[in-house]
Amino acid sequence: DALTRPKDLLDFSAYGRQEIEELLALAERLKRERYRGEDLKGKVLALLFEKPSLRTRTTLEVAMLHLGGYAIYLDQKQVGIGEREPVRDVAKNLERFVEGIAARVYRHGTVEELARHARIPVINALSDRAHPLQALADLLTLKEAFGGWEGLEVAWVGDGNNVLNSLLEVAPLVGLRMRVATPRGYEPDPGLLQKAGAFLTHDPKEAALGAHALYTDVWTSMGQEAERERRLRDFNGFQVNGELLKLLRPEGIFLHCLPAHYGEETTEEAVHGPRSRVFDQAENRLHTAKAVLLCLLS
Ligand code: CP
Ligand code: NVA
Repeated sequence: DALTRPKDLLDFSAYGRQEIEELLALAERLKRERYRGEDLKGKVLALLFEKPSLRTRTTLEVAMLHLGGYAIYLDQKQVGIGEREPVRDVAKNLERFVEGIAARVYRHGTVEELARHARIPVINALSDRAHPLQALADLLTLKEAFGGWEGLEVAWVGDGNNVLNSLLEVAPLVGLRMRVATPRGYEPDPGLLQKAGAFLTHDPKEAALGAHALYTDVWTSMGQEAERERRLRDFNGFQVNGELLKLLRPEGIFLHCLPAHYGEETTEEAVHGPRSRVFDQAENRLHTAKAVLLCLLS
């Protein structure tokens, strides 16, 4: 397939409706066909992770394997990106060794700097500002649940974080209508909120009422551990539990990117309950990762 290919996936700013629809169509096909192939034979993806991961690391590694390529995991303790050596030097070494970099970083500026200095594709595997791989899996999950995206009302209850920013960025490209409920002071990027035409409230019930999907994520993201006590206080009343899920439309679903902090932003009842599509979301990380890797590394 002739896919449009921006060099990197840092966020969705270089992506339009067509690129997103092509990526998702490819992911759907790969999933349907349980695709295994040799498309990336001999190609190596470096996983440069400053933070822990279950889903992102595993799905990228398995995706590379299913496509005939290979992945190497580079622990921050070993590489010391920005510490043992500058980001630019890491980029200018890795481009000589491997065909792509997936980086999970604290500062979004680090993935931007890697992409600027490496001639190979750089994939944002989560930064403080964005989590584009997650948003692609979320789109696939929504499509499977509702048959399409146009006009779906997606409520976000919780922190205005990286995961929300990426959803807001992609929402207007596919016609999702976002309703966002955060505590005061925890709103997402205002530019993305505005571009998405999102509805902003500080009342979780108002966001959830009649929505097709209700999405939440941890109140304390990786790197924010020092703020945990304050956040626990500030997010009081924002838990997505069985009660809040009752406000969705009858066919409404619950989404969470995982990992979950049970007893904080959500409950076991919600994650393991009948409305949950959380583990489909997790599975879809694999299929959408494959689509991204085929698109950027082929
Ligand atoms: N959802 C997600 O990115 O999970 P990990 O942090 O385990 O990769
Ligand atoms: N917002 C969370 C997402 C984890 C996948 C974090 O950044 O830690």
